[in-house]
Amino acid sequence: MAIDNSQKKIVFGQILNPISDTECEFHKNGALVMRNSENGWIVDYVGDCEGVSVEGAQIIDLADRVIMPSFFDVHFHWVQDDVRTMPKAKLLEWLEKYTFPSERKFENEDYSKEKATFFFKRLARAGTLGGAVYSSIHEHALHHALEEVVGHFAIGNVQMTMNSPEFLTQTKEDAIELSNRMARQYGPRYALTPRFAIATDPETMLETGKVAKESNCFIQTHLSENEGEIDFVMEIYRNMPGFEDVKNYTDIYDRVGLLGPKTIMGHGIHLSEEELGVLARTQTAIAHCPTSNAPIEELGLGSGLFDFQKTNQAGVRWALASDIGGGPILSMFDVMRSFVEQNARAQVEATYVQALYRSTVAGAQVMGVEDIAGNLSVGKEANFIVLAPVSSSASSAEAVLTEVAERGRSERSDYDALPEKVFFRGEALFEA
Ligand code: GUN
Ligand code: FE
Repeated sequence: MAIDNSQKKIVFGQILNPISDTECEFHKNGALVMRNSENGWIVDYVGDCEGVSVEGAQIIDLADRVIMPSFFDVHFHWVQDDVRTMPKAKLLEWLEKYTFPSERKFENEDYSKEKATFFFKRLARAGTLGGAVYSSIHEHALHHALEEVVGHFAIGNVQMTMNSPEFLTQTKEDAIELSNRMARQYGPRYALTPRFAIATDPETMLETGKVAKESNCFIQTHLSENEGEIDFVMEIYRNMPGFEDVKNYTDIYDRVGLLGPKTIMGHGIHLSEEELGVLARTQTAIAHCPTSNAPIEELGLGSGLFDFQKTNQAGVRWALASDIGGGPILSMFDVMRSFVEQNARAQVEATYVQALYRSTVAGAQVMGVEDIAGNLSVGKEANFIVLAPVSSSASSAEAVLTEVAERGRSERSDYDALPEKVFFRGEALFEA
């Protein structure tokens, strides 16, 4: 019986398909067969091209170009595109001096809409089609971001009710009203976003956390990024009625009911075993942001090195993230490179296979879409990027990825332009 290929699309190229921390399928003469479904083009076959029937199908022959799944970035601030490369010394100082004034500009609606159009095009062009995003305190900026973003994202307006500049401070009532309304309006596309326990009071976290959970929203905040931040947060809460006996930074979020399987904690670098245990028990995930945590000479905030081995041992889920503008580069290729290199310097073995898995499949898991996205396995959406060919001697996934990582060695911003094409649900979103 003849095979009906009229509803098929086939891409030929060198295909990488991340499976786990230690396994990435590599099909040197690969074919990605897609079939049309009510949710767009989904993967029907991925593997060697030999024997794949092409008759009647739409063919996209990419010769020896590299095809890999698009990225997830589970922690970044879309309103910090302009402070990515500002001088960084201490976290709290960088926030005061550059970040807050920059976020303030989003109070202007025209500015916000224009920025959103520009930023989310840039993000898709860099190959990121899923993740969790921080917006400013302003309601319209959240709407603009949700209008412009393409892919599997949750976005939230930051809540800032204390220890913040006057121009970015909300009353508790306003913060609660806005977040609860947005949670009910957007459901899982909304991420309740207390900026961090320093800037958001516990009553606001408690009241909005309940509604966010009822509405099936994500919850995201910052946790244990920097020593100065930890000292400050503990000082604030130990002097606050009802929190005198708070055990640690994680305990603050636990007491106001923010932990859980849809909660993403940014950074989590300086956590104790006890805190990791609480995150594991509540299935809370960590967004690890290596380029943001990197030394100041590398345009990071010098926050320290995340111990992924300890985190794995504790059973805490984690994925990679850029933390734009704490991290200077949008592309997850730069995040992957930084992850591998910082660990190598600390004599911890981290591979590009692991880095890719944590930038794709693990991110999809954190965002709760691992059944439909994250890699190119059969049945998932055909979300992928296409890169220029690598040398013919690259004969493993690790070798291919190592060679790709070299492409931004002298100029990190080059990583953003590596994808020659970006496909979402089997349709080209971008073609160079
Ligand atoms: N902690 C609270 N706000 C921020 C922020 O905007 N960036 C980073 N890196 N850490 C934070
Ligand atoms: Fe951040």
